[in-house]
Amino acid sequence: MKGLKVVTIGGGSSYTPELVEGFIKRYDVLPIRELWLVDIEEGREKLEIVGALAKRMVQKANVPIEIHLSYDRKKALEGADFVTTQIRVGLLAARAIDEKIPLDHGMLGQETNGAGGMFKAFRTIPVILEITKEMKELCPDAWLINFSNPAGIVTEAILRHGAIKKTVGLCNVPIHMEKRMATLFEADSSRFWMKFAGLNHMVYAINAYLDGVDVMKQIPTKMEEMKDSEAMKIQNVAAVDYEPEFLRALGVLPCYYHTYYYRQDEQLAKILKQHKEGTTRALEVKKIEDELFELYKDENLQIKPPQLEKRGGAYYSDAACNLIESIYNDKRDIQTVNTINNGAIYGIEHESAIEVSSVITKSGPMPLNIGKLPVQVHGLVIQMKSFERMVVEASVEGDIEKAILALSINPLTPSDKLAKEVTMKLLDAHKKYLPQFFK
Ligand code: G6P
Repeated sequence: MKGLKVVTIGGGSSYTPELVEGFIKRYDVLPIRELWLVDIEEGREKLEIVGALAKRMVQKANVPIEIHLSYDRKKALEGADFVTTQIRVGLLAARAIDEKIPLDHGMLGQETNGAGGMFKAFRTIPVILEITKEMKELCPDAWLINFSNPAGIVTEAILRHGAIKKTVGLCNVPIHMEKRMATLFEADSSRFWMKFAGLNHMVYAINAYLDGVDVMKQIPTKMEEMKDSEAMKIQNVAAVDYEPEFLRALGVLPCYYHTYYYRQDEQLAKILKQHKEGTTRALEVKKIEDELFELYKDENLQIKPPQLEKRGGAYYSDAACNLIESIYNDKRDIQTVNTINNGAIYGIEHESAIEVSSVITKSGPMPLNIGKLPVQVHGLVIQMKSFERMVVEASVEGDIEKAILALSINPLTPSDKLAKEVTMKLLDAHKKYLPQFFK
């Protein structure tokens, strides 16, 4: 059996031990020979720490995966079978700015939604497109699996402008929702699954099957009964108790990022209050990361520490490793991924990225046919897709007017005037990472 070469760009991320754990668990079905963890010079300290932990983990597990650390992306990419990207351009300091500036203007400051998400996309898209060019030259048959946020917009950019098209965008939200809902029915994954459709961080569970019977209608009542339980908590998005009438009438289950849209006032007020008290999620994450890296340094640590679960990305490695395993083994199971629409959801352009339950094959994800989204959710999804398309166009063309337009049409933006103000401030603050707008 030929061993695989996997390259993880942004290898110094605190999530890497989870990925390594996932690869170790699946070694028998996913024989990785080389795992290359790649980072930039600014990430050297983190990469050295995480890389040393990764080496201890494979040693303890006694699997023959070679861990390579590299600062030379091109060298690492040569002959790769799978490339995963988990980059944060501008590091956490840039996320802190993405969250702060909109909040200073009374708008949501969040990593993937609204102005913050737009600027994370602006910083990420040029780097990812450059990686696709390098892949075309150095490993043209490899799959690019992207986890960098905002995963849906980044997938849209690769599908439309990337030098390679074999790409899948990945998020932990669907798998997380499915696991949480399964606990409501005290069922394991062999008995329970949900069919998802929509966009990244704007995805809905359309059906929920327990032993083959659609139990979606029971979910609002069950959620109401279980609302205070630990199993229902999300690490990075404040809980909201929707009105049961709303959920019942909606008929599908929104993801937890929908709370920023369907409970805009309450979610914004909570985040603004924290901001006034001097906290944002980026600052919290910085503290969690510092603690994690202290733990990772411990030479006796040979497993992924449970503290990593304080991050919002729980189950991310499950999602990533399941996906790679299914592509590699042509498993044809169903997973929810960001991929090309190709007509699966009616009303969205064929070339656009959607997040959708798909059969995972050696030739990539084959979306389940969704057809028309229920009319009560169709409009919001289409509006968000217009926003995403504008963000990609603005970024690729380096067009500031389009950037302002994109933010103006985002449902979280109260006015074109504020959109302009916040966009101009963020452009200025992130100038160093946004060469496309300052040619
Ligand atoms: C979620 C999202 C991810 C995101 C993460 C943020 O689960 O799906 O896209 O990266 O949470 O978590 P953090 O701990 O960084 O706030």
